Amino acid sequence: MNEKLLLENLRNVPDYPKKGIQFQDVSTLFKNSACLQEMKQELLRLYQDKGITKVIGIESRGFVMGSILAAELGAGFVMARKPGKLPAQTLKETYKKEYGYDEIEIHSDAITSDDTVLIHDDLLATGGSMEAVYKLCQRFNPRHIYVNFLIELAMEGLNGREALGANKDITTLITVSR
Ligand code: PRP
Ligand code: MG
Repeated sequence: MNEKLLLENLRNVPDYPKKGIQFQDVSTLFKNSACLQEMKQELLRLYQDKGITKVIGIESRGFVMGSILAAELGAGFVMARKPGKLPAQTLKETYKKEYGYDEIEIHSDAITSDDTVLIHDDLLATGGSMEAVYKLCQRFNPRHIYVNFLIELAMEGLNGREALGANKDITTLITVSR
């Protein structure tokens, strides 16, 4: 994979959303056709022989490559959404954010125990949102759960990898430590 291409095109926005935060803006990878192809090809290479039947994308930045990958794999695509957005019956998990708590939901009929699942999101920071969606998926007792992020943040004070634990099948395309 051309890691350099992705790293060079990922925009760093200083002091967003607040002073001291270096925001990693994945929109510059999505808008660049070469980067979009590179990410699609690498995700395909990683997951084409895994028997994946459902890709779960985490709202909202996980919807972009998640749905592209699902279509390429011939799998279904499932939205893990922020509270109150899904119209039918849902399963819900509450998780801790930097300040307070948040919730994430999946439709109760979105996954079955016959599914092999890949949960995809753009970015691993604290791991809180992925952990919540992982727990949601476990409640369906699928055959296996894979996890992918485009970008892993590896910096002082952020322990996303450790928080997710060593017993999960995780891949990331690029690691950023700025
Ligand atoms: C960001 C990012 C990941 C999550 C990572 O999404 O896109 O989903 O936070 O953080 P964590 O590892 O600490 O959970 P955000 O909730 O800002 O929403 P968005 O994708 O809708 O922009
Ligand atoms: Mg997100």
